[in-house]
Amino acid sequence: MNDLVRYERRDGIALITIDNPPVNAIAHAVRQGVMAALDRAAADGAAHAVVIACAGRTFIAGADISEFDKPRGKPDLPEVVSRIEGMDKLVVAAIHGTALGGGLETALGCHYRCALASARVGLPEVLLGLLPGASGTQRLPRLVGVEAALDMMISGKPISAAEAREKGIIDEIIEGDLVDGALAYARRLVGARAPIRRIRDLAVDASRLPKDFFADYRQRIARQTRGYFAPERIVQCVEIATRLPLAEGHRLERELFEQCKASTQSVALRHLFFAEREVAKIPDIPKDTPQRPIARVGIVGAGTMGGGIAMCFANAGLPVTVLEVDAAALERGLGTVRRNYEISASRGRLSEAEVRQRMGLIEGALEDGALADADLVIEAVFEDLGLKEQVFARLDAVCRPGAVLATNTSTLDLDRIARATRRPADVIGLHFFSPANVMKLLEIVRGAQTSPEVIATAMGVAKIIGKIGVLVGNCWGFVGNRMFGQMIRENQMMQLEGVPPERIDRVAEEWGMAMGPNGVFDLAGIDIDVKVRRGRPDKPDDPTWCRVSDLLFEHGRLGQKTGSGFYRYEEGSRTPIPDPLVHDLIRAEAKRLGVARREIDDAEIIERMFYALINEGALILEAGHALRPGDIDVIWVNGYGFPRYRGGPMRHADAVGLGEVLAGVERYRGRYGDRYWRPAPLLERLAREGGTFTGWQR
Ligand SMILES: NC(=O)c1ccc[n+]([C@@H]2O[C@H](COP(=O)([O-])OP(=O)(O)OC[C@H]3O[C@@H](n4cnc5c(N)ncnc54)[C@H](O)[C@@H]3O)[C@@H](O)[C@H]2O)c1
Repeated sequence: MNDLVRYERRDGIALITIDNPPVNAIAHAVRQGVMAALDRAAADGAAHAVVIACAGRTFIAGADISEFDKPRGKPDLPEVVSRIEGMDKLVVAAIHGTALGGGLETALGCHYRCALASARVGLPEVLLGLLPGASGTQRLPRLVGVEAALDMMISGKPISAAEAREKGIIDEIIEGDLVDGALAYARRLVGARAPIRRIRDLAVDASRLPKDFFADYRQRIARQTRGYFAPERIVQCVEIATRLPLAEGHRLERELFEQCKASTQSVALRHLFFAEREVAKIPDIPKDTPQRPIARVGIVGAGTMGGGIAMCFANAGLPVTVLEVDAAALERGLGTVRRNYEISASRGRLSEAEVRQRMGLIEGALEDGALADADLVIEAVFEDLGLKEQVFARLDAVCRPGAVLATNTSTLDLDRIARATRRPADVIGLHFFSPANVMKLLEIVRGAQTSPEVIATAMGVAKIIGKIGVLVGNCWGFVGNRMFGQMIRENQMMQLEGVPPERIDRVAEEWGMAMGPNGVFDLAGIDIDVKVRRGRPDKPDDPTWCRVSDLLFEHGRLGQKTGSGFYRYEEGSRTPIPDPLVHDLIRAEAKRLGVARREIDDAEIIERMFYALINEGALILEAGHALRPGDIDVIWVNGYGFPRYRGGPMRHADAVGLGEVLAGVERYRGRYGDRYWRPAPLLERLAREGGTFTGWQR
């Protein structure tokens, strides 16, 4: 038919095979090929039924996202789906791997669907800010009912073949060879004179829906979908499916699809989709760079981070040895790990056997020698350069040659730590985020001497433990914390100027942040910030700089762990309660420092925090501490609760317009001076040229 679609006949059944590696995306040429193959099958007098299958590792895994921004080539996917459905010969989809998005929509055009037990199906469009636009929103509710269809499309999560069989999406599970099995299944259907089942002819059974179903459903998903554009439109499409015939419903679906596609959110989410894949590409480290095998892991320190990191590796099935200073600290650390696993078990996320198996992989130790045969050691002791240098000198003495030596420091100079060893090429930063067993992000810090092999190995380690590894340069706070520092500075300055911490948090959360910065501080511990800042080599000579943290620290308000910080907390509760005492403390301090109190509106709160963040991002980018703007975005979305639908700070800056961002930075420079608000040269240049961060090439 063409290079991407083959036609053949096997014992009376037409077999259409799509072969568009790597994932059989249903690109324009594939759609043309399928149409031609269907014409041929229709005309082939010796073909009694049709099987549509895919070569390679998966059934059609979706649309070709790179075509989204081009005009739609004919035939479009809805035409292909309705052509399949309109065939007078029975059509069977044969599914392996993942039938996602346009792939599942294609399969829903078929009259029957069979699959390998390992296959998965889903409509993940929502994750790209879209809705299934090739009649998926109209067909799925007709097939599986309104609620099940909504759940699949709102979560975007694929389901297993077994679950799909239960719901009626899959009619037959095939064992052994899929194509042979599918052909035999098609023959059986023909032999039994099975009817041609067209989903378009089914009606959605809305009579069984409870009264007010859709209003209730919207309420139910409100929290999970807060701020997102596409979910509400998916619900609208399904409502339409309960009232209108498929063709009319599809027309409205198409309109809403176009609205989604044109939305800033979808542009942002597609940007992230590509950025999250691109982080794996490092220009000077080719894909085939050898990686060192990692079979045994050592961890130094069983505190908050050490324990969480140990869980990451045990969860991936790797044995871990955790080294502590004394038995009490070790017991405390491992006790916390066990408790965390037990909480997961009590919520049904792990079985008791799994808890035992994972705990069985974690071994405690008090002697350095226990790390002698580790392939990777991760240091997670207190954030203190002298201490870390000592630890690395000891690791150098006991670890086997070739072991990767990593530090979890959040701010310190990696090169100084590496120099404490005689093997700086083997030293790297692996910066986990708290809670380490949950957060997806891993900043991988490259030192001046870190070898390509060690970097490649670290990127591989991120994959093994299910994290998104992003390579960053060695500068104070690396990428994430260095930028966060700017946001915190403005947040605290605004407090001195009269904005209560809870208002800043509320505004940040309404804007989409998972948690406001002051709530984050109370959770992480205000003492941590204070100590880390004291060690900072480039502290500004400014008595107002992050003064609120220091003030709370001086009053013993360290956050949730002491029952008070920016907020107060009732005994045993994590609910933040605004505290007038904090307001009074800050007001008195502002007076002492001579900071003028002023009215600050919500827009200024957002601008000052996020423009400060973006400006620092531009400096980081230009200095090469992040490889691409998308890398910064991936860091912020996966490590700092930045709203996915805004695509990360750099993509958000593009959406606002760099001219506008620069004007904001200049405005605050006018009011607060040069110290913090000097525009980054890259921002100035791109704004002047009418460019964007995401379009920028180094
Ligand atoms: N807590 C966070 O949110 C976070 C996030 C990212 C990175 N980090 C970094 O991770 C590191 C650890 O932080 P944490 O919050 O887990 O600290 P923590 O205080 O909870 O734990 C540190 C542990 O190290 C142990 N330790 C100290 N010296 C040791 C030694 N010589 N040998 C063995 N163990 C020793 C201590 O007994 C303690 O259990 C720091 O560098 C920190 O900056 C922390």
